[in-house]
Amino acid sequence: MSTKKTYILGIESSCDDTSASIVCDGKVLSNIVANQEVHAKYGGVVPELASRAHQQNIVPVVQQAIEQAGITKKDLNAVAFTRGPGLMGSLLVGTSFAKSLALGLNIPLIDVNHMQAHILAHFIKEENSKIPPFPFLCLTISGGHTQIVKITDHFDMEILGETIDDAVGEAFDKSAKILGLPYPGGPLIDKYAQHGNPKAFKFTKPKVGDLKFSFSGLKTGILYFIQRSVKENPDFIKENLYDICASIQYTIIEILMEKIKNAVKHTEIKHVAIAGGVSANSEIRKRLQLAEKHWGWTTYIPKFEYTTDNAAMIAISGYLKYLKKEYSDVSVTAKARLKVSEL
Ligand code: KG4
Ligand code: ZN
Repeated sequence: MSTKKTYILGIESSCDDTSASIVCDGKVLSNIVANQEVHAKYGGVVPELASRAHQQNIVPVVQQAIEQAGITKKDLNAVAFTRGPGLMGSLLVGTSFAKSLALGLNIPLIDVNHMQAHILAHFIKEENSKIPPFPFLCLTISGGHTQIVKITDHFDMEILGETIDDAVGEAFDKSAKILGLPYPGGPLIDKYAQHGNPKAFKFTKPKVGDLKFSFSGLKTGILYFIQRSVKENPDFIKENLYDICASIQYTIIEILMEKIKNAVKHTEIKHVAIAGGVSANSEIRKRLQLAEKHWGWTTYIPKFEYTTDNAAMIAISGYLKYLKKEYSDVSVTAKARLKVSEL
């Protein structure tokens, strides 16, 4: 039997992080992420600036990933890249780079769905890693998506419910913006919430279907509440920042927990994972751990570095496709819109 190792390069450039990673037989050897600071002062990602920054970052980031893995380009067995969903200009940078590299090295090119990849990060092999069995449920929560997905096989995924308006990451980021915090505000709300009282202020939760999400009403509710309070006391935000953050976070996490609980009830599947940038949130991580104890679920919480956008999740997805010899043709194009069930 051959003991030859399989090295996959993963490239991620769907939004505002340029990332490259080397995965060897399912284990991560390197995972380099270059964040783009340039967007902070605009309060959100500026697409044109994002694609320009990807152009600047992609060569050094890929080089660093290869070096840190202790290999050379010639060791690579395939190049996997994010085909979508994401910002078109950003996706194009990763797609064209991956295509040229695969062509130049004469190795397979593998297209990866970013939303599947967030979930497939759970299949990265690490010491003490807990790999979910099929079928399992995943609450995929990011800056662009909020979905409950049923995973029957690595590439057999079905959306059971999703948001009808904003994504949960947007709810965090837009609330933070109302409070005058820089983008992305999610991690800051999390940080300040640790020192606040989650019951200090009450926000109305949306009334939508059992497995659906809606965050736009909550955002408007928060905006009006802050405007009213600041009118009465101009220092309201400064004086109550921790309590406001804790209360916003509490409401959002309550909504997420209620929906995933509904999904477990409907499907009777008690293996529950979280994925995506918002799964870095300390409160959702805590609440999910408690669900193990209280409701008998088995939960899967990604390592912190595999929550927000990263290329290790692209490389592991590429590896799983490589094993099935699911390669892309060089004519493959980036797709800004792509459902988790596609590719
Ligand atoms: O998955 P991701 O990196 O990019 C997308 O594919 O959208 O998710 C980014 C989102 C942002 O909205 C960011 O504010 C949010 O994840 N986020 C958090 C935390 N860390 C990142 N939200 C709440 N608490 C956190 N600790
Ligand atoms: Zn993402």
